[in-house]
Amino acid sequence: MKGIILAGGTGSRLFPLTKLINKHLLPVGRFPMICYGIERMRKAGIQDILLIVGKSSAGLYTNFLGSGEEWGVNISYKIQESAGGIAQALNLARSFVSAQDRFVVLLGDNLFHDDLTPYVDAFNQQPSGSARVLLKHVNDPKRYGVPVFHMSQPNLIQYIEEKPKNPQSNYCVTGIYMYDSYVFEAISQIAPSARGELEITDVNNVYAKLGRLQFDILRGWWTDAGTFDSLDEAGRKLRGLKL
Ligand code: G1P
Repeated sequence: MKGIILAGGTGSRLFPLTKLINKHLLPVGRFPMICYGIERMRKAGIQDILLIVGKSSAGLYTNFLGSGEEWGVNISYKIQESAGGIAQALNLARSFVSAQDRFVVLLGDNLFHDDLTPYVDAFNQQPSGSARVLLKHVNDPKRYGVPVFHMSQPNLIQYIEEKPKNPQSNYCVTGIYMYDSYVFEAISQIAPSARGELEITDVNNVYAKLGRLQFDILRGWWTDAGTFDSLDEAGRKLRGLKL
């Protein structure tokens, strides 16, 4: 199993902080945000990690993380020239994975307590060409991708609605996804959304339509630390943690 962490983007909801420093390097507790995702992957036995970063902040990442040795992992880097959506960033990982590889994709601002190991194990039992997403029960699903569950097959998601006005469940699709190389075929089938981005939800819906999108529900605390409130919350939750 390999790992891909997406750490590009402008972080506009955190301006002006993110005018100075990339969102995923902002302090959360004792560490820059990016460290938590790396640690969750390492804990689940994922050694080879690709970090996708914007060109203006790449030097900060390489200065701080280097080869990953200090963190017990091998880190490679890929530069995202311009922000075109999560799926566009993921597409840059093509050369990092081979036809047989399976991988966890993590949005670098998603912070959580659960150990990924059981979810990775469950994904390894799935047939090739399928995907798995991790969900979390939330109070404000309108901010997120929201799953609509399959009527007759309880392990499947029928489709995902991105930031729906009338969410059909109280679950959010977190930024923790599991794929194999079929994901690049799925990305090639989607078109930019109304906001001009290649959306990860559209990619996941390619799998959902084929009846190949399974899920787990996170048990522990989770947040996407992309707003001032959630960044504050993450800082409080993770303050005592030593990685
Ligand atoms: C993205 C995804 C959304 C998901 C969220 C989780 O949203 O598009 O489906 O629920 O990450 O963090 P964004 O934070 O880019 O608006």
